[in-house]
Amino acid sequence: MPKLTVNGVENQVESGQRLVLAIEGTGVNIGHRCGGNAKCTTCRVNFVSGEPATMTEAERDVLTEKGALGEVRLSCQIICDHDMSVEPGFLLENEEEWDDTGPTPETSITPDPVWISKP
Ligand code: FES
Repeated sequence: MPKLTVNGVENQVESGQRLVLAIEGTGVNIGHRCGGNAKCTTCRVNFVSGEPATMTEAERDVLTEKGALGEVRLSCQIICDHDMSVEPGFLLENEEEWDDTGPTPETSITPDPVWISKP
């Protein structure tokens, strides 16, 4: 079981989950306003440690569009299969205009992932 540390709090999580769902499973209200489809970037995280060396093309494309490539990662585009420590960028309690965190992401990565090396 990987150790997932969110804002300094350690949790043991089931291996192979989408990181956004693993974070949510620890009780943290991380945003996923596009439902985990690499469109909104509200599932963004800063990695303290354990950043994967690969990313999906969809993640690269939307982070490039938002000018955030190299600064944050998208937790909806990452599988939690090893120890990671992250700090979510958007939490429900900090976003006054949100009624909820967003539609529930599917259990597997959407859109169908095309894996590339992290630029
Ligand atoms: S980009 Fe929207 S949930 Fe990840």
